[in-house]
Amino acid sequence: MGMPDAKMTARRLSVHYGDKRALHEVDLDVAANEVTALIGPSGCGKSTFLRCLNRMNDTIDGARVSGEVILDGEPLYGPSGIDPVLLRARVGMVFQRPNPFPKSIYDNVAFGPRLHGLVSEADALDALVRTSLERAGLWSEVKDRLHERGTGLSGGQQQRLCIARAIAVEPELILMDEPCSALDPIATARIEELIDELRQTYTIVIVTHSMQQAARVSQTTAFFHLGRIVEVGATEQVFTAPASELTQGYITGRFG
Ligand SMILES: Nc1ncnc2c1ncn2[C@@H]1O[C@H](COP(=O)(O)OP(=O)(O)O)[C@@H](O)[C@H]1O
Ligand SMILES: [Mg+2]
Repeated sequence: MGMPDAKMTARRLSVHYGDKRALHEVDLDVAANEVTALIGPSGCGKSTFLRCLNRMNDTIDGARVSGEVILDGEPLYGPSGIDPVLLRARVGMVFQRPNPFPKSIYDNVAFGPRLHGLVSEADALDALVRTSLERAGLWSEVKDRLHERGTGLSGGQQQRLCIARAIAVEPELILMDEPCSALDPIATARIEELIDELRQTYTIVIVTHSMQQAARVSQTTAFFHLGRIVEVGATEQVFTAPASELTQGYITGRFG
C-alpha cells in the first residue's frame, strides 16, 4: 500500500467539526527525508489535515477524525493507536506564531527531553540542548544567554527556538503550519535554509500560503481545495505542468 519509502500514510482521512465536514477522504503518502508542502486557499483544510498527523485534533472540541494515518506501519488511530503523548515526541510541530514557553532559552529546549526522560545526566542534557540549538541554527546567537527568557528573542529567533525545542526530542517527523507567516523576509529565508538542512535528518510536512515558499523548500506538493486533495506530485511538476485545471488556476493566481 502506498509508496515503498513512505514515512507516513493517510488513507480516506476525513474530519468533521460538529456536523461540518472539513476534510473528505484524503489520501497522501509522505516520503521520508523530503519536504512535503501542503498548499491551497484559506479554509481548504490544510491545518486540519496537518493536525491529524500528530493527533492534535484530539484536543479540539467537536472534532472527529475517521480514516487511517500510519507512521512506519503503526496506526495512529483506533484501538491499537499510538499513545498521543509518545506520538507527539515522534511527530513534532511548529506553529504559525512562534510560541516559546515563558521560560529560559535553555529550559525551552530541555523541556521535552525532561518530560520524556531522555537523558539523566546534567552534562548529557547540556549537550542535547547545545546540539538542538546548533541544528536549529541558533546556538551562536544565544550561547551566552541561555538563561534569558525565550520570549525576549526576535520573532525569527523565537521560531528557530521552537524548532530547536521540537528537535530536542529527536522526532521522526516535523510538522510546520505556516511557520514563516509572522516573520520578515530575512528571518523567513533563514528558516527556509534550515528546513532544507533539516530534511537530511527528518521528514517535514509544511503548510504554506506562499507558493514561492512551497516551490523553494519542498520536493512534493499537495494542492488542497474544499477539503480534498486535488493534485499531488513532484513540486516542480505541480508548479510547471499541473495536471488539474483547478491547480493551474490556483498557482496562476486566478483564485486563492
Ligand atoms: N476548531 C474548529 N472548529 C470548527 N471549524 C473549524 C475549526 N478549525 C477549522 N475549521 C473549519 O474547517 C475548515 C478547514 O479549516 P483549516 O483546516 O483551518 O483550513 P486551512 O488551514 O487550509 O486554512 C474551514 O472551513 C474552517 O472554518
Ligand atoms: Mg491553516
